[in-house]
Amino acid sequence: MKSLGLCVAFTVLAVVHCAVPRAGEVPKVTLNSGGLMPLVGLGTWQVTDERKLEQALDAALEAGYRHIDTATIYYNEELIGKVLKRWLSEGKVKREDLFITTKLPVYAMRAADVPDLLNQSLSKLQLDYVDLYLIHMPFGVKREAYKGGSIVAIGPNGTDLTTDHLAIWDAMVAEKVAGRAKALGVSNFNETQIERIIKNSKVPPANLQVELHLFHQQKPLVEFCKKNGIAVTAFSSFGSPGSKWLIQLSGKELPDLFNITEVKEIANKHHKTAAQVLLRHIVQKGITVIPKSTNPSRVRENIEIFNFILDDEDVATLDSLDKGIDGKLFIMKNIGGSVNHPEYPWTILQNEPVA
Ligand SMILES: NC(=O)c1ccc[n+]([C@@H]2O[C@H](COP(=O)([O-])OP(=O)(O)OC[C@H]3O[C@@H](n4cnc5c(N)ncnc54)[C@H](OP(=O)(O)O)[C@@H]3O)[C@@H](O)[C@H]2O)c1
Ligand SMILES: *[C@@H]1O[C@H](CO)[C@@H](O)[C@H](O)[C@H]1NC(C)=O
Ligand SMILES: *[C@@H]1O[C@H](CO)[C@@H](O)[C@H](O)[C@H]1NC(C)=O
Ligand SMILES: *[C@@H]1O[C@H](CO)[C@@H](O)[C@H](O)[C@H]1NC(C)=O
Ligand SMILES: *[C@@H]1O[C@H](CO)[C@@H](O)[C@H](O)[C@H]1NC(C)=O
Repeated sequence: MKSLGLCVAFTVLAVVHCAVPRAGEVPKVTLNSGGLMPLVGLGTWQVTDERKLEQALDAALEAGYRHIDTATIYYNEELIGKVLKRWLSEGKVKREDLFITTKLPVYAMRAADVPDLLNQSLSKLQLDYVDLYLIHMPFGVKREAYKGGSIVAIGPNGTDLTTDHLAIWDAMVAEKVAGRAKALGVSNFNETQIERIIKNSKVPPANLQVELHLFHQQKPLVEFCKKNGIAVTAFSSFGSPGSKWLIQLSGKELPDLFNITEVKEIANKHHKTAAQVLLRHIVQKGITVIPKSTNPSRVRENIEIFNFILDDEDVATLDSLDKGIDGKLFIMKNIGGSVNHPEYPWTILQNEPVA
């Protein structure tokens, strides 16, 4: 009965493997490119401390995580590569069981930059291919504008207004054909931007990675992706409690999603934590989560979400807490000039008086 419940729960996006997961295994989403993406991955943004990252990755791999989310601009691909190399060379994990995602940075939003940037990522990760290569942001800044290594430091004059998504996508497709990326996707793109790629390329995006959490559930965008066979990955599914500094730049308050009465009540009912309820609410819709933690016990907690099911009433309660666009935390206007870039994706927020 329980396994059937899990199967039924995962019918939203494409095909999800329905077998009851063995300990240390998580269900996977089938991508339109043919690969399998584990429904839980480890987020690694803002983790550059070698000891912390190594400890988190070891805890994650031991707990059964096989999916790791990084990006060029997280500056940790080299450390991740070192840990993966150790696990692979000791035979504790096989390359084909891993799912490694990295991203084309905002300062390399030109077709000619794609092979170089992917090569750099592969070399740092000590891998021959990534499982998923994402365009990190729809807008772009000049490569030289990024010299300081900090997005926040880029001024409005650093904006590159020539961004051509279709040309970049063609260059991404060439990397897929060459076998350096098994699947391709986009991040922070809106529906119009994704649709343009679908209409103009033989290879549709396999994945969209976007901000998605209790207060910003992205219902229309998720529906659009479902219709088009694009798997969705939720970022900041806890509302990014470690990013107070950044969210305040956007004039936003950071919500405490762990301390919402309804979430706590549902957690108590299932003898689970609020964090587990927040993640379960998302994965139960067939959406992948990539919670970030460097704390080994929280790393383990965040993958222990496949041994309970939220019932219809729980789901209705959690669904109703969506604040839509008002719940959005990341405006990304701090990336100098992004708001005036022709591909700034959240036009509804364009006139908000924020940093
Ligand atoms: N594509 C994009 O533009 C984009 C943007 C943002 C994020 N991302 C990706 O998505 C990942 C996740 O998003 P995020 O890092 O913004 O934030 P998040 O996963 O929503 O939250 C991470 C924070 O929650 C804490 N935490 C983790 N597990 C917890 C638990 N069980 N109980 C209580 N607190 C817990 C962590 O602290 P501890 O480490 O101390 O546990 C950390 O401060 C990123 O790491 C990155 O890989 C992508
Ligand atoms: C990337 O690496 C591949 C294989 O090693 C190589 O053929 C190609 O020339 C490299 N491209 C760039 C831009 O460095
Ligand atoms: C941006 O460029 C303009 C024109 O060259 C210049 O007047 C202005 O001072 C620059 N602004 C910044 C923040 O560098
Ligand atoms: C949780 O929320 C309650 C009521 O909204 C508040 O009084 C309390 O201080 C919050 N707890 C934490 C740890 O923020
Ligand atoms: C997506 O962003 C583009 C570029 O700013 C904009 O023209 C378009 O209206 C946006 N689409 C949606 C659905 O918000």
